[in-house]
Amino acid sequence: MDHFLYQADELYAEQCQVAELAKQHGTPLYIYSRATLERHWHAFDNAVSDHPHLICYAVKANSNIAVLNVLARLGSGFDIVSGGELSRVIEAGGDPAKVVFSGVGKTVAEMEMALNLGIYCFNVESAAELEQLNQVALRLGKVAPVSLRVNPDVDAGTHPYISTGLKENKFGIAMEEAEAIFARAHELAGLEVKGVDCHIGSQLTEIKPFLDAMDRMLALIDRLGSQGIEIKHFDVGGGLGVTYDDEVPPQPDVYAAALLDRLGGRDLKLIFEPGRAIAANAGIFVTQVLYLKENSDKRFALVDGAMNDLIRPSLYSAWQKIIPVIERAGTTHNYDVVGPVCETGDFLGKDRQLNVQAGDYLAVRSSGAYGFTMASNYNSRPRAAEVMVDADNAYVIREREKVAQLWQGEQILP
Ligand code: LLP
Repeated sequence: MDHFLYQADELYAEQCQVAELAKQHGTPLYIYSRATLERHWHAFDNAVSDHPHLICYAVKANSNIAVLNVLARLGSGFDIVSGGELSRVIEAGGDPAKVVFSGVGKTVAEMEMALNLGIYCFNVESAAELEQLNQVALRLGKVAPVSLRVNPDVDAGTHPYISTGLKENKFGIAMEEAEAIFARAHELAGLEVKGVDCHIGSQLTEIKPFLDAMDRMLALIDRLGSQGIEIKHFDVGGGLGVTYDDEVPPQPDVYAAALLDRLGGRDLKLIFEPGRAIAANAGIFVTQVLYLKENSDKRFALVDGAMNDLIRPSLYSAWQKIIPVIERAGTTHNYDVVGPVCETGDFLGKDRQLNVQAGDYLAVRSSGAYGFTMASNYNSRPRAAEVMVDADNAYVIREREKVAQLWQGEQILP
């Protein structure tokens, strides 16, 4: 459930009129709903409430500091993949002691920063990274808490670009090598083995791949235990899917109940790294129709938002619902909703039944995750503004980028 609903023929974000926000702040525009973000976060937290756990929101999904701050106020932890994301968490008032650091290519500088801030755990993805982290920790006179990300080799059944748990993917440590690398971690003085971690992919709409991965990981945890390596937490990663169209992914409570059931009586804290499930349907992307254009067999709605603002349709052929901000009565036509960028692949949606005129606003739903965070300045387009609504208040949480900012830091030769 989210808080983007029609009242009569007009779309609201909580109690704010989307059309008014678009007029006031211009388009293209991202609009997020605080109540929806909070609701989705609580859905996870409540689902595992009486079992020791930590919800570490995946910052990459939407890293605006207002979004992070709303979640930090609820007591959320954070899953980060760079020093930049860690800095955002701190800037937003997040607690470094609730941060897990994922990613295959952590630099020495990033390790130092995370160690100095005292993060909860490093999710280490290779033997080489493990040695590096040990050296950095020893040099700083610290002990790095580590978890090894193990690749369970299960097929998440999702888009190949967002599937991460297969052997052929670059992520994690192969199951066959896991025990030897855990043994090595256990003997290094700069490291303390805390957990086991996996993340098999994103936008999963079935529970089975999660459970298959969990079975393999729990078997590993049991083997490690019998070798005297005690595992305190199991990080199940993120990946729970959302409804973009007619998918029916498991709700967080059903998903968590299934995982808890598999856990048996094991005394393991569970860590979750949800990104999309919290943020996607807490945001819309609003764009204005510039022109309608027709040729012999196609109608196009040319809008002011483009692939540089929201790349998911172009990059993954992702389908996101496009709805009018103010509904018009009358006949609909079949449109491709396309942006001004000079690429054939620049579209927000294809073959959409719409009744639109130039000047109308359209909302692309489910844009709160992997929307703004993947935006670029391609075609020298300033990045969109972001607004967060809270009941009947709306706050600008990021100003529209100004044209002069586009070449900030660039230099002309003397
Ligand atoms: N943890 C790790 C280690 C991850 O790599 C990811 C996402 C997550 C957690 C959060 O996954 P989520 O709960 O959001 O599915 N740009 C793509 C999605 C890429 C996901 C990358 N990793 C998209 O727009 O579909």
